[in-house]
Amino acid sequence: MQVVETITEMKRLRRQLPEPFGFVPTMGYLHKGHISLVRYARKENASVVASIFVNPTQFGPSEDFEDYPRDTKRDLAMLEEAKTDVVFIPPATEMYPERFSSWVEVGKLTERLEGNARPTHFRGVTTICTKLFNIVEPTKAYFGQKDAQQALVIKKMVADLNMNLEIVMCPTVREPDGLAMSSRHIYLSKEQRQAAVSLYEAIQLAEELWSEGERDAEHLRQVVTSHIQQQPLAEIEYVSVADTETLEELKTATSSGLLSLVVRFGKTRLLDNTILK
Ligand code: PAJ
Repeated sequence: MQVVETITEMKRLRRQLPEPFGFVPTMGYLHKGHISLVRYARKENASVVASIFVNPTQFGPSEDFEDYPRDTKRDLAMLEEAKTDVVFIPPATEMYPERFSSWVEVGKLTERLEGNARPTHFRGVTTICTKLFNIVEPTKAYFGQKDAQQALVIKKMVADLNMNLEIVMCPTVREPDGLAMSSRHIYLSKEQRQAAVSLYEAIQLAEELWSEGERDAEHLRQVVTSHIQQQPLAEIEYVSVADTETLEELKTATSSGLLSLVVRFGKTRLLDNTILK
C-alpha cells in the first residue's frame, strides 16, 4: 500500500495503476462502516484508492472541526488490512492553498434536512469531492447509505455536471445493538451510548409499520418521535419521511420514502435512516 500526500504524486500513481479504479473518500478515524466501502470497491475494481482528509470547509463555525477525532496510524493499518492500493492523505494546504476561491453547489437537494440544519455543509462536501474526483479520476466512488442525503447530493452533482464516474451507495454497517457506526461515537458518555440505540429501535418500529401497509408519513414520523422522546438524554433535531429523490417531505409515502432522523445527545449529533420500499 502506498501513502501519498501530494496531488502531483497521486496523479502520477493514478496513471500507473490498472483500471477500473475504485475510490473511497473518508475523513479518517475509520470503523467497519468505512472499511465495508473499501471491500465493495475491492470486489469491483482492479485498483482501490482511499482518501483521508478532514475537510474544513464542510464544518460550520461552531462545529467540531478542531476536535474531529484523528488516528492516522490506526487508519492506515485498517486500510492496509482491507487491501487498499493507495491512500491519499493530503495536508489542508495542498487542498486549499491560499486564495482558494471556487465552489461547487448543488441546488434544492442541499437545502433540505442536513442542509437546513448545516447551511454551508454540502457546499464543502461537493467542492472537496469534486477536487478529489478530479485528482483521483475514479471509475466508481463508494458512499455509505448512513449519509443518504450526501450520497444523493453527490449523485446529482455527478449527473448534472457530467462527471465521468459512477457513484455507488453501500448499506449502513451497524454495531451489534443496531446503532449505525460513526466516528463521532467517541464523544458519547456511557449513558448516552446506551440511549442512542433508540434511533435504531425507532427505525425498526417504522419499518414494521411500513411492512404492515402504513403509508401515512405523519404517523410514521410520530411513531419514531414518540419512541425517541422516551429517552430523557435524547433531543430530536428532525424526523423526516421524504421523497427518495427530491427529499421533499411526504404526506403519503405511496411507493417509497426515505425515513431519516437526527438526534442530539449533548453536543453529539447522531444521524440514521432507512429506505422504506
Ligand atoms: P466520513 O464521515 O469519514 O465518511 C466516509 C464514508 O463512509 C461516507 O460515504 C459515509 O457515508 C460512510 N460511512 C460512515 N459511516 C458508515 C456506516 N456506519 N456504514 C456504512 N458507511 C458509512 O462522509 C464523509 O466522511 C465526508 O463528507 C466526505 C465524503 C469524505 C467528504 O469530506
